[in-house]
Amino acid sequence: MNKQRIAIFASGTGSNAVRLINHFEEHPTIDVAFVLSNKKDAKVLSSSAELGVTAWYHSNQVVSNGDFLVGLLEENKIDWIILAGYLRLIPSKLIESYEGKIINLHPSLLPKYGGKGMYGRNVHEAVLANEEKESGISVHFVNERFDEGAMIAQFFCQVQSTDKIEDLEGKIRLLEHTYFPIVVEHTILNKH
Ligand code: GRF
Repeated sequence: MNKQRIAIFASGTGSNAVRLINHFEEHPTIDVAFVLSNKKDAKVLSSSAELGVTAWYHSNQVVSNGDFLVGLLEENKIDWIILAGYLRLIPSKLIESYEGKIINLHPSLLPKYGGKGMYGRNVHEAVLANEEKESGISVHFVNERFDEGAMIAQFFCQVQSTDKIEDLEGKIRLLEHTYFPIVVEHTILNKH
């Protein structure tokens, strides 16, 4: 049986991309085919290459071209697209071609603290400013609007009144690193 091939899209540090690469390294039926970033100097590009995974940079202009992306993904026989800290909207052409096959990770309990501009520290800042008692992560399918696709799984953590942004960031990162690769794996294994 052919392996299910993943493309990871990431814009920044890529700690989640690295977790995914490590998780699937020896996997019998799932393979990380390449990593794509829209940031030339993103750390994710060098980290992925160091782990032996092909890493490509394409400009914002190029990644907003749905025909280009679909062509690239089809040429590389990609089955699944995993967004791990990818900050661009996915072109509708790509969503049509890969319906139900694009998964995003978001650092809040959606639908709270989602949408344009809600990423990274902005999310944690807003959670703390609103004195939320809990936060967490959401893993969901991607549709044409930021952070609004069908939910796959959510994981919670407590927020203490004394928490600083760094504290919350640490709790969220721990949830992401622990659960994201497993949820991606289960979703793929259950759906193909
Ligand atoms: C993560 O918090 C993820 O939830 C969000 O962007 C961040 C990416 O972190 N979408 P990293 O680049 O994987 O370290």
